[in-house]
Amino acid sequence: FGYLNYLVKRDRRFIADILINGLHRLEYRGYDSSGIAFDGDSINSNKSDERTCIVVRQKGKVEELEHAVKSLENVDWNGEFSVHVGIAHTRWATHGEPNAVNSHPQRSDEQNQFVCVHNGIITNYKDIKQYLTNKGYKFESETDTEVVIKLVKYLYDKHKNEHITFQKLIEMACSQLEGAFALLFKSIHYPGELCATRRGSPMVIGVKCADQLGANHIPVMFSKDISTNPRMTKDLRGVFSPPLMITDQTTADLAVTGNNRSIEYFFASDASAIIEHTNQVIFMEDDDLAVVRNGALTIHRTQHEVSGQSTIREIIELKIELQEIMKGNYSYFMQKEIFEQPESVVNTMRGRVNFNTKKVILGGIKDYISEIRRCRRLILIACGTSYHSAVATRQLLEELSELPVMVELASDFLDRNTPVFRDDVCMFISQSGETADTILALRYCKQRGALILGFTNTVGSSISRESHCGIHINAGPEIGVASTKAYTSQFLALVLFGLVLSEDSISKESRRNDIINGLQKLPELIKQVLNCDKKVREFAEELYKQSSLLVMGRGFNFATCLEGALKVKELTYMHSEGILAGELKHGPLAMVDDTMPIVMIIMDDPVKIKCMNAYSQVQARGGQPILICNDDDEELIKLENRRITVPRTVDCLQGILCVVPMQLLSFHIAVLRGYDVDCPRNLAKSVTVA
Ligand code: G6P
Repeated sequence: FGYLNYLVKRDRRFIADILINGLHRLEYRGYDSSGIAFDGDSINSNKSDERTCIVVRQKGKVEELEHAVKSLENVDWNGEFSVHVGIAHTRWATHGEPNAVNSHPQRSDEQNQFVCVHNGIITNYKDIKQYLTNKGYKFESETDTEVVIKLVKYLYDKHKNEHITFQKLIEMACSQLEGAFALLFKSIHYPGELCATRRGSPMVIGVKCADQLGANHIPVMFSKDISTNPRMTKDLRGVFSPPLMITDQTTADLAVTGNNRSIEYFFASDASAIIEHTNQVIFMEDDDLAVVRNGALTIHRTQHEVSGQSTIREIIELKIELQEIMKGNYSYFMQKEIFEQPESVVNTMRGRVNFNTKKVILGGIKDYISEIRRCRRLILIACGTSYHSAVATRQLLEELSELPVMVELASDFLDRNTPVFRDDVCMFISQSGETADTILALRYCKQRGALILGFTNTVGSSISRESHCGIHINAGPEIGVASTKAYTSQFLALVLFGLVLSEDSISKESRRNDIINGLQKLPELIKQVLNCDKKVREFAEELYKQSSLLVMGRGFNFATCLEGALKVKELTYMHSEGILAGELKHGPLAMVDDTMPIVMIIMDDPVKIKCMNAYSQVQARGGQPILICNDDDEELIKLENRRITVPRTVDCLQGILCVVPMQLLSFHIAVLRGYDVDCPRNLAKSVTVA
């Protein structure tokens, strides 16, 4: 997170609060240590050796950093700045254990002449470290990031007499970096300037004009002749609304703000940290270098254009509300997100399903439908919970599309160098749209000429931008690290996709109509399932001291078992396995005895008889499973008292209802065990490193 004010008077307390608050919003991305850097006392001095930069770094959550900053001595908190730069970071360790020295900002030297924060991994850091060590540079941390800032310092010293600009310096340093990064830089040698760049990791810039014209009237200046750019006309010089920023293909392109405008800039890995300050944002693209100098923001290209990459950077007005990302009346974000599902599924269907005409329209893919129908196969690729949504809908997609459907974990798909062809349709499912393995798999498939569909919850994310077409699942921001409402919305979006694909098939009309009727009732049915919360809590009390939990089922609910077990692992740190009931005799049955906790999902659907067989086998070994079954299934209700019931819906949608008790069960067990539900240990919401 970064903040820069220009000709807006802010005291140091205000600036520190803005930085820390930004980190709180981003904490779900990683939270094992954090840090900030802000200007010291002599920012107005003309001599750089009189200027200072204060760096505070702390192991633990942002709260710990906040205490450390508050208890700093000899800092004039009331000191005012009309121009100031601060950068901040919350970390999830990849290289080097979580401690203060390894946290960011990383610095060039003890004087903090250059500091940076980094999201991603520098893969060639060892080579650079060796090179700089040979030149006499000493390293204090175990991070890959430290090489970046030491490299900047090295280049600065080398070109000192050439009065090199901050922009040029960062450009030179970044040209040596391999890997993935989003970086923010500040330096006492370039007061009032901030550089930001990205390659592979996301970065958003928020722009807030402090004068009465507002951000809708940000003047744009062009440093180059733009007449060659067909998207630009002379009319766009001067005040332009809505504002447009165009970048030229080669060097410095273009710019927000004119002379002496009061303005504030916010930089962040995602918009949730910016939205409370401004809804005017620019999404940076890979190899963009954004520089703020004298209050003007310019965006430059550090690499030559890759064909197909957009050369246009627009200021976009974001529509998400801050309260959407706040906790409301719930104790945890995850709990709020579980209980939001009756609404989030409506949002996924909004404007897409006409329940009267039984038609589904997906605007994001409508121009590609015939191409998709002609394809060789559908390949669904994702990680974690998103992968489970693919497993959950595979059977329906096969049925409705009559195409071969592969479901793939992104990392394994890449490990195998899986053959991909031009007539394949590759579908990438990702809540964040930023999962590194999923993005790498997307690029792999794109290179091989396949049609790329993105299913994401994050507008403007890398996956939504790099896909040819796709569907936003519109579940709203998901903050809890363990995914819940995004799963049910992904599931639903994939069902809608299947319905659209089969639209021209008359033989499937009645099946389609049944599903669409089921969709209409879904929000109400989820509300009913949520009523089992108290009952689930009772089972959690029985289970929370156990060390294992097996979740068994098959057919449409095999994915529910995988997803349920993943929730239990993520939140409760218990051993948990989702077991395909058909595989029971091939190994898992050996684990079953009268002490092993088991949940069995048995719906009144075509695989019920087979599930009942599994149930008998478990019982015969002394197992006492808790059943999840339909609330009108008299047979099972008579048979088993230890049960959680869910209303009946169409077989292929049943998984949306059955997963809810598993979400609640894992939530309650984690709370009873005293764990932090929203930030499970060792996990991050968005895994932006491969
Ligand atoms: C991490 C998160 C999971 C998520 C997975 C995939 O592991 O903790 O909740 O399912 O990444 O993330 P994506 O954003 O691609 O859906």
